[in-house]
Amino acid sequence: MNKFIIETYGCQMNIADSELVATILKDAGYFEADSIEDADIIIFNTCSVRQHAEERVKGRISNEQARKKNKSDLVIGVMGCMAQRMKEELIALNIGVDFIVGVDQYHNIPEIIESKSTINADFNSAEVYHNIYPTRKGNFNAFVTIMRGCNNFCTYCIVPYVRGRERSRPLDEILREVRLAGEEGFKDITLLGQNVNSYSFDGIKFPQLMQKVSDIDTIKRIRFVTSHPKDLSDDLIEVMAANERICKHVHLPLQSGDDEILRRMNRGYTASHYRGIIDKLRRAMPNIGLTTDVIVGFPGETEEQYRKTYDLMKEVEYDYAFMYKYSPRTGTKAADFAEQVPEEVRLSRLKEIIELQREITLQKFRSQIGSIKEVYVENVSKKSAEELSGKTEDFKIAVFKGDKSLIGSFVNIEITDATSGTLIGRKV
Ligand code: SAH
Ligand code: SF4
Ligand code: F3S
Repeated sequence: MNKFIIETYGCQMNIADSELVATILKDAGYFEADSIEDADIIIFNTCSVRQHAEERVKGRISNEQARKKNKSDLVIGVMGCMAQRMKEELIALNIGVDFIVGVDQYHNIPEIIESKSTINADFNSAEVYHNIYPTRKGNFNAFVTIMRGCNNFCTYCIVPYVRGRERSRPLDEILREVRLAGEEGFKDITLLGQNVNSYSFDGIKFPQLMQKVSDIDTIKRIRFVTSHPKDLSDDLIEVMAANERICKHVHLPLQSGDDEILRRMNRGYTASHYRGIIDKLRRAMPNIGLTTDVIVGFPGETEEQYRKTYDLMKEVEYDYAFMYKYSPRTGTKAADFAEQVPEEVRLSRLKEIIELQREITLQKFRSQIGSIKEVYVENVSKKSAEELSGKTEDFKIAVFKGDKSLIGSFVNIEITDATSGTLIGRKV
């Protein structure tokens, strides 16, 4: 009764937390199961950001419940944002959930399992999980959490309610974790937080943290998510431009291109402030990769307001965008706003904007044909056993013909073709 498996949903913060919990369980004498069939304890690490994310996981849990017929001592647990949001409600659904553990209580998972208790989801706004080195799943990109929680309360967003208040991890622990990842062979690291630009520990701010991380020379590529447009500073742009190891890529969620919607979202910036940051980034780093998040159909969004988002996306020409239709989250301010936009309108705006971005991405990717790009080779390509796939510095997927022995190395390729999502090249 000591093999566990964790199935992870949601953002990179959840991936990092699953790796953290794997270490906590191993330190308590548990082992990672090779497959779900082999597991005595199944833990779902969940996301609440949109209703759809919750429905998907509930479906998965119900499916796994069937295993209890043949294995009556199988334990199913739920961690992460949905556990934090729904608490005992999740057990009452009768889909087979045995325990619930909230985001600040992961230290207590072994005790929860052993004592057969069902729930611990108390917040602890000081919890930063000191000195636990994560059990990493991937071989190439290491996620390093630098802060937890969020204080921004964007009116559509559940995250501050399920992740609690913002807190930063101590600088020396972050640097130690990055050094250890480098020693283990990770060449690409991503610093994580809901708003990395508000990192603050003992007077050290995010640009200084980035400088210190980029002094660690075993790491070749340093990334970070997510940047809030209201907090992205000139100092950060300077540090990025000056350090070769910092990837020239920024994920800068726009959410909306209309000032009134941005105000009602409580985003703390205007479209023109946002444009200003994009200009500064491009002036300092002409080939910078830019990606974004956008929400359409926020309560009260008129056709005209939506058009401003569409136009801004056309103007900025992101390399890639994550686009969502607004999903009301109980407990957030926007869920109570009058004038919810009808589902069909949300959907048709979403379809239109996805189509726009698909065209832009295709053009952007095609414009790289003829150039030489360095690829960190991660895998054999899903489509062909003779091809390898990896990522460019500006966060694009690239494939090229090559031998498996190149996996884990950096290879220069000439781009010969592109689709709306993949660069195709040949080794030079
Ligand atoms: N901290 C990050 C984002 C976290 S959530 C940031 O501030 O950018 C990731 C994305 O999900 C958000 O950027 C937003 O575009 C989207 N999102 C959040 N709440 C949503 C909701 N209620 N409906 C639709 N999309 C939402
Ligand atoms: Fe949500 Fe806004 Fe915090 Fe991002 S900054 S996690 S969108 S509240
Ligand atoms: Fe989802 Fe929680 Fe991340 S709600 S997006 S898993 S912080």
